[in-house]
Amino acid sequence: MKCDFLIIGSGIAGLSFALRVADLGTVCIVTKKKDVDTATNLAQGGIAAVLDEDDDFSYHIEDTLKSGAGLCSYETVKTVVEEGPERIKDLIDIGVNFVESRDNPGKLNLGREGGHSKRRVAHSFDLTGRAIEEALLETIKRKPSVIVEENSVCVDLILDKNKSVSNEKEKCVGAYVLKDEKIEVYEAGVTVLCTGGAGKVYLYTSNPDIASGDGVAMALRAGAEVANMEFVQFHPTCLYHPQAKNFLITEAVRGEGGILLNSSGERFMEKYAPNRKELATRDMVARSIDKEMKISGCDCVYLDISHKDSDFVRNRFPGVYSKCKELGIDITSKPIPVVPAAHYMCGGVLTDYWGRTSVDNLFCLGETACTGLHGANRLASNSLLEAVVYAHRSATFCRENRKLWKNYKHGSIDNWVDDGAVFLDEEILINHNWDLIRRIMWNYVGIVRNEKRLKLASQQLSEIVKEIESHYHNYHISTGLIELRNIAIIANLIVESAKYRKESRGLHFLEDCPGESESDRHWNVFRRISDGNSYPWQVEKIREISVKKIDIE
Ligand code: SIN
Repeated sequence: MKCDFLIIGSGIAGLSFALRVADLGTVCIVTKKKDVDTATNLAQGGIAAVLDEDDDFSYHIEDTLKSGAGLCSYETVKTVVEEGPERIKDLIDIGVNFVESRDNPGKLNLGREGGHSKRRVAHSFDLTGRAIEEALLETIKRKPSVIVEENSVCVDLILDKNKSVSNEKEKCVGAYVLKDEKIEVYEAGVTVLCTGGAGKVYLYTSNPDIASGDGVAMALRAGAEVANMEFVQFHPTCLYHPQAKNFLITEAVRGEGGILLNSSGERFMEKYAPNRKELATRDMVARSIDKEMKISGCDCVYLDISHKDSDFVRNRFPGVYSKCKELGIDITSKPIPVVPAAHYMCGGVLTDYWGRTSVDNLFCLGETACTGLHGANRLASNSLLEAVVYAHRSATFCRENRKLWKNYKHGSIDNWVDDGAVFLDEEILINHNWDLIRRIMWNYVGIVRNEKRLKLASQQLSEIVKEIESHYHNYHISTGLIELRNIAIIANLIVESAKYRKESRGLHFLEDCPGESESDRHWNVFRRISDGNSYPWQVEKIREISVKKIDIE
């Protein structure tokens, strides 16, 4: 397979980029499962932007910076916020049905979520991601230059082996892709990683099964820089029910007046965030819930919206209402049992303002990327926004720099060789390690951390990474093995990054150092160690990027 643009992942970032380069050349989207099996498709809340006269760019910028706890890149925040409204118009133009205001026909009905000082979340009730994914896929299907290959799993990126060793930067020339049990070469002018997040690294997550951090792990192996991996966002309210897997109760429920109660029926957020209460930023709400669960010893807390008009609740939250109803919970009359769960990776592959990574011809978008928008804690509903803004920016860069991808000439690419590999006859070798990693991360590297547990996690993970790497070399590659190898690398990255942050900031809360430290106002940037003596994929911190202090009230 040869194409001008190889896009890995079929969520909002990948599809938006594909649409924008469809007239430039040939585009191939490879996606692990079905095209709709993405985190985008599950997104409930919506997409934040300044869309009302009562709002202003400066407010959205300020809210994003506050949420990011001093680690956002001001330039990135300003760019994303200011380009946001145009990108929302683009989505409307391809047919995304955002809900309109009843009182003001022609204007959008804007939702409110934690950390936002204004109503600014465009939504399609609580099924926003699905509406966006459907519209993008429908539009893509009408583009003859774009093909979508489902059930295709990327194994690794391919680097130009003819590049001289003295060249500082590697160049990406495509990827090895596993499809129908065969590994094929996909050669491309430009490769774009948009594989979403890595929630599956934790025992409990709101993410879909595909979220195994493939993009970050592949980029790391290819020599790209990765930053801010210690900042994992836990969504405060995932449904707590034995039959509910990964089901989120959107933050918009709190935005519309939902309150949090502990197991004794007491409203507790006033204690932790007296001003914003349930609408404090996510790090604060998740930590407060964690504390209440530890105090009571109970397995969950409760989110109650039953005091609101029942027709309003049913109409505004049709997805949440019907899922809960299916499980015997009528949210119009009863509180919903909820727990925090891993939701979003704020760090990722480091990119510049055009989505370019530190490897030539390799771009990265969406949750896989670290653009500097989220800092130490993402503001609710800023992720879909970042994906569309950066997809547009990367595509613009490709449009204006045709020689980057047009008529590219690569050195010859080797086919995949797995001589000597045998078929893995015991799935337990994979499942056991999955389970171990997810438990280590949940128990030792969760919402509240300490140095002792981080050290233990680091020791245990380094052994697991070695074992997985030996399976990888001895057995034929399968999807399970690829994902396990990736998830192990992500876990390792999160722990090693967390060990470097000797303070509590945003999503990284360290019991040993509960306050912020001015000397830690930087991003930790990692790369893999490539000398032959290090254990496979050992990572090292290569530099810090200082972040300027911005005065906000
Ligand atoms: C939600 O609906 O609460 C999720 C939105 C987000 O993660 O930004």
